[in-house]
Amino acid sequence: MTVHIGAAEGQIAETVLMPGDPYRAKWAAETFLDGAELVNEVRGMLGFTGTWKGNRVTIQGSGMGMPSLSIYANELISTYGAQTLIRIGSCGGMQAHVGIRDVIIAMTATTITSPSSSFFKEINYAPCADYGLLAAAVKAAEAKGTTTHVGGIYSSDVFYAERADLDEQMVRHGILGVEMEAAELYTLAARHGRRALAVLTVSDHLQTGEALPSEDRERTFGDMVEIALEAAFS
Ligand code: ADE
Repeated sequence: MTVHIGAAEGQIAETVLMPGDPYRAKWAAETFLDGAELVNEVRGMLGFTGTWKGNRVTIQGSGMGMPSLSIYANELISTYGAQTLIRIGSCGGMQAHVGIRDVIIAMTATTITSPSSSFFKEINYAPCADYGLLAAAVKAAEAKGTTTHVGGIYSSDVFYAERADLDEQMVRHGILGVEMEAAELYTLAARHGRRALAVLTVSDHLQTGEALPSEDRERTFGDMVEIALEAAFS
């Protein structure tokens, strides 16, 4: 048990999928895992452990934003021994060729600030995905026929951005989409020698203003969960 996770040691699998939304953790566990058991409900941040094709998996909500994700990822790594951490979540599309419902597999995650910035000081660390997980996820997405983009994303501290020039520079430098968690997950995984990846579904688009209708979300997010599970156990 940790400050924020009520599971007993041993109740968390070595492979953890981390959606931001605890209710998406519940939905994914009930939809994709066999024998899913609730292992955490502290602060309503639901976590479930079950099996997928015989492999033990935990699906634990991370909350929104890097400070929240940092709490859960740190505790999963340090107390529960999580080895593979895959963020599954939504993002805003930033490039014209990236469409709503497409999947983005994040090779790198650029930030302006993150919970690690204060001690990185002058270092502009480049958070990047585990290559084995990334390659396996790309293969799984191709096999599924999901429209997928692989490249850099932007992990922002704000959903309601005030500075349009920052988004402009991200777009100009080829960033595919914006979300709020992956950079810190990649940084923590690197710090502790673990594997991390973010597989994201484009739920809205910064250039077109389009947004995914809520009735489409489950089917589209399901592809992303399956890609993450295939990648973890390939
Ligand atoms: N997650 C999904 N859409 C987003 C957006 N537009 N900005 C930041 N995070 C997001």
